[in-house]
Amino acid sequence: MYDKLKKYIFKFDPENMHLAVEKMLMLAQITPMVLESIAKRFCITDERLKQNILGLDFYNPVGLGAGFDKNATMTKGLSSFGFGYIELGTITPKPQDGNPKPRIFRFSNEKSIQNAMGFNNDGAKKVAQRVARIYPFIIPLGINIGKNKITEQEKAIFDYKKLIGSFKELGDYFAINLSSPNTPNLRDLQNEEFVRELFTQLKKQTNKPIFLKISPDMEIDYMLKVCECAIKNGADGIIATNTTTNYTLLKDAKDFGGISGEALKNRSREVFTILSEHFFNKTILISIGGISDGNEAYERIKLGASLVQIYTGMIFEGPSICKNINEVILERLEEDGFKHISEALGKGLH
Ligand SMILES: Cc1cc2nc3c(=O)[nH]c(=O)nc-3n(C[C@H](O)[C@H](O)[C@H](O)COP(=O)(O)O)c2cc1C
Repeated sequence: MYDKLKKYIFKFDPENMHLAVEKMLMLAQITPMVLESIAKRFCITDERLKQNILGLDFYNPVGLGAGFDKNATMTKGLSSFGFGYIELGTITPKPQDGNPKPRIFRFSNEKSIQNAMGFNNDGAKKVAQRVARIYPFIIPLGINIGKNKITEQEKAIFDYKKLIGSFKELGDYFAINLSSPNTPNLRDLQNEEFVRELFTQLKKQTNKPIFLKISPDMEIDYMLKVCECAIKNGADGIIATNTTTNYTLLKDAKDFGGISGEALKNRSREVFTILSEHFFNKTILISIGGISDGNEAYERIKLGASLVQIYTGMIFEGPSICKNINEVILERLEEDGFKHISEALGKGLH
């Protein structure tokens, strides 16, 4: 059904389509019966998928990655499609428009996206007001935060501190975004000195879990040092990865923005594997990047991902993606003789 619909949907500009989906979900949200019927069709409840991680209850391991619901306008609607958790944002202290349009490009044959959004969002105050209306929520909510484009590098830490302050009572975990390629020089903040200072300060502000979301483009030894430093200074986990700026991965790629989806899959898995070889059992690891089916999700779990996230997969596979992924995870657990997802965790590591 979605395959047929896709032919029509994909004729439209990706950002306009995203806005149309947002409008539809906002409409659906004011009609609980509609959400209930969607949830009946798409949500899977199974004891084998439930996990308590860092004190949070996840009824399944498949989350929605940051960037889809930047402004917390469609959170209720999205939850009815079966996500185990949703990461909102990236939210910046002040509202900002992001980069000039067009800034999302679809590569249908490659099941990939290239985006240069640049943290377009309504700003902390407005988004916090929206989250306050729904929080505590039926599933865990992550708050993904980033600096404003106009904030000087030397003052970046104050943006993150302000954001933690704004969302202190809202959301269940924080994700620190230093890895978007679309805010000039943001990725330069992925260095030990900044990360040490950042986590030391943020951990004094909140007891909620704080994750670091990393780029797939760092040199491996450097990436391990940055992650080690984050963990030593209080990070509760790592989310790997954001989009890539390796434009050779996609024929006809633009020379700006970040690539996600199928073209990112191998690099993202590779980075995750190395990360897990070093930090599995020492911290919580969340895998994202090119996951669009249950086999890939299960593989990441076996590589040590307590949770996975999807974004681009949803564009190409449609609204049943969570259900499909969770069904395959259950099948694979059974094949491997595991009674619970926790038994599969890290079993694929050498
Ligand atoms: C259009 C678009 C916007 C995104 N915006 C954000 C964002 O605001 N913050 C963030 O941390 N990641 C953002 N991402 C990155 C995704 O969360 C994810 O890390 C990346 O796309 C890789 O996963 P995927 O292959 O499943 O899409 C965005 C991705 C896309 C495609």
